[in-house]
Amino acid sequence: RPGDIIVASESSHVAGREGPGISNLAAVAILGIDTPGGIFTADDVAGAIKEAPLRSRAKVRLVTAENTHNAGGGTIFPIASLRRIHSLCRKTDIPFHIDGSRIFNASVASGVTPADYGKVCHSLMFCLSKGLGAPVGSIVVGSRDFLEEARSVGVRIGGGMRQSGIVAAGGLYALRNNVRRMAEDHENAKTLARSLADLPGIEVINAPVETNIVLFQWKIPTVSLPEFQEALHERGVLVDDRSFPFFRAVTHLGIGKKEIARAVRTFRQVFGRAAA
Ligand SMILES: Cc1ncc(COP(=O)(O)O)c(C=O)c1O
Repeated sequence: RPGDIIVASESSHVAGREGPGISNLAAVAILGIDTPGGIFTADDVAGAIKEAPLRSRAKVRLVTAENTHNAGGGTIFPIASLRRIHSLCRKTDIPFHIDGSRIFNASVASGVTPADYGKVCHSLMFCLSKGLGAPVGSIVVGSRDFLEEARSVGVRIGGGMRQSGIVAAGGLYALRNNVRRMAEDHENAKTLARSLADLPGIEVINAPVETNIVLFQWKIPTVSLPEFQEALHERGVLVDDRSFPFFRAVTHLGIGKKEIARAVRTFRQVFGRAAA
């Protein structure tokens, strides 16, 4: 409700990319928790619930955890921690939402089933795209009443979609065929991280890599961003360089061992050549 507070990790998608939309559509504020890798505990949440009314006289009405946490480098919330947060939220009558946009990465890496993640929250969303490999689509999971309300809000903000069958078909294919293979993405990300860590001047920020995201920094860049982009572009390697000289590389369907080797060769040439 307007004026309420959402507790989320400071570096989460909800607080960052969705922040302006949330304040515009729902008129709520976000109280960010700043912890390593974006992973917080029940104690952090309890602190935020206590702090919010002292700071702003407003109440926390939603807690959300991003699992895996993108900006943290695909980090995973331990299931025991999620269970404690859920239990705290139940006691304080606050819904607990899991932004599980990459929940299947968390599941494949941790061995915790998606159903078990679903049991430690009131609602959960996941993307059919990203690691699952469908072209488009996200799913919201929750109680019947919650979903009724979500549908109604969705329609009110222009999110109704009558032709969703074609989207669902791609999503079903992804769920049936592309979950287990995510272990390959995690292996590939680890290989990439190890190779990058061997390059002089490169620091892997999220070692040991937990899932399919590698964050790394070029300590002393010796080329400009456009030169760097051109060199990578020529060699067909895509890396998120919006925070140059910090980078984010993501492994996914269609990126196999061969492509990882090519990326490593490219990084070796680009970083090596520039440093020489
Ligand atoms: C962590 C996280 N949550 C939520 C979303 C939103 O996904 P969608 O807009 O596909 O529902 C994204 C998409 O990039 C994301 O990375």
